[in-house]
Parts: sequence; structure tokens; C-alpha cells
Amino acid sequence: MTAQKIADFTVKPTLIGEKVVLRPFVAEDVAALRVLLNDRELLRLTGSAHDRAAEPAPADPERDEQFRRWRNAQPDRLDLAVADRATGHCVGEIVLNEWDAANRSCNFRIALAAAGRDRGLGTEAVRIVVGYGFEQLALHRISLEVYAFNPRARHVYEKAGFVAEGVMREALRFGDGWVDATVMSILSHEWSRHRGRP
Ligand SMILES: CC(C)(COP(=O)(O)OP(=O)(O)OC[C@H]1O[C@@H](n2cnc3c(N)ncnc32)[C@H](O)[C@@H]1OP(=O)(O)O)[C@@H](O)C(=O)NCCC(=O)NCCS
Repeated sequence: MTAQKIADFTVKPTLIGEKVVLRPFVAEDVAALRVLLNDRELLRLTGSAHDRAAEPAPADPERDEQFRRWRNAQPDRLDLAVADRATGHCVGEIVLNEWDAANRSCNFRIALAAAGRDRGLGTEAVRIVVGYGFEQLALHRISLEVYAFNPRARHVYEKAGFVAEGVMREALRFGDGWVDATVMSILSHEWSRHRGRP
């Protein structure tokens, strides 16, 4: 029997790619993360809003700072800032959460501000964190949900090796309509085979 690595989510690593640095949140990131929370398009794409007129939650620097510290301290999830390596500035967040230790599975999510999108940062960040999840946290399965109105995200996930496994029909109400969500996943033995380049 091969020795199984124990997942240690208390470690908050700094992971360096060509275009991004993924790292724990620092105090300066709070303002950058507020930009995300005020981005109506991002709120739509992540299913955090139910119509285009939805008002972002009001800014509360003290609560945002508390949340930043909380995220860096959690022993059962990994939240990292996505920093643009060219500037060092935080342009988004990337998360492995809903850890199920018995089944060695996690949920995955990523969100980048407009300034960080469509420049290859997301693709690289997804590959880095998924690789970390399998190779350092000993996960077996990483899954996510993507809405039908978000073909860019779906394309990025497919490029990194996520496989569509089913549709949650009309899972989101948006405006006067209903939007399907596709469940996608990637498994450790798939990762071993292609390492994010299927
Ligand atoms: C989804 C997200 C993480 C992708 O990261 P990104 O840095 O913008 O993406 P990249 O630049 O690495 O790659 C984008 C890819 O999508 C493609 N693309 C862009 N718009 C597209 C569209 N409308 N339909 C299909 N593919 C599209 C690009 O051509 C590129 O693919 P290629 O490299 O094969 O040419 C980022 O855009 C984001 O955070 N968006 C807002 C929040 C969000 O949608 N989060 C995901 C919720 S499930």
C-alpha cells in the first residue's frame, strides 16, 4: 500500500507562475477585493446576483479586513489572492473549499476583476491551484459549478482538464429567466495523466 499524504490546509502557500502569484491575502488586498464585490458583471457570472440592477453590498472596511484575516486562518479550506505577477497587485481570488476529508474532495472557485481577465491569468491560476490540490493536499476529486451564461469560464475549466458531468437544470434565477448550471470535476488520476493539459 502506498503512503497517503495528509492534507494540511493550515499551510497557506505562495505559488508562483509565469503570469500570476497566488499567495495569502495581505492588508492591501482588501481594497482590490472590494472592486470584485462591486463588479456587477462578476456578480452575475458567479451567480451572486439575481438581476442586473442588484446593488453590491455596501463597503465596510472593518468587516472586509476581518474576513481577510479569517480566510488566512482557516484550517479546512484554502483561499489565495491572485496577484498579477507584472505588478504584484491582487486582481482576484481563488479558493478550494467544502473539503470532505473522508472522500478527499473539494469545491473550487475563482473570480478575477475586469483588469485581470482575458490575459491568461485565470488559466494559469486554475492549473496551479488544481495541481496543488492533487499533489500537496492529496485530493482525489475537485469539482465546481459553472452557469450556462459563462462560456469563458467553462472553456478555461475544460482547458485545465475539468470534465462536465451533469447539468443542474434552472439552478439560478436571473431576471425573468432561469439558468442551468453544469457540474464539472477533475480526478487525481486524470491530473496525473495530463497535469492540466488534457
Ligand atoms: C473565468 C475566469 C477565471 C477566466 O480567467 P481569464 O484570465 O479571464 O481567462 P484566460 O485569459 O486565461 O482564458 C480565457 C479563454 O476563454 C476564451 N474565451 C473568452 N471569451 C469566451 C467566450 N465568450 N466563450 C468561449 N471562450 C471564451 C479565450 O479565448 C481564452 O481561451 P484560449 O486561451 O483557448 O484562447 C475570469 O474571466 C473570471 O474571473 N471571470 C469573472 C468571474 C467568473 O466568471 N468566475 C467563474 C465562475 S464559475
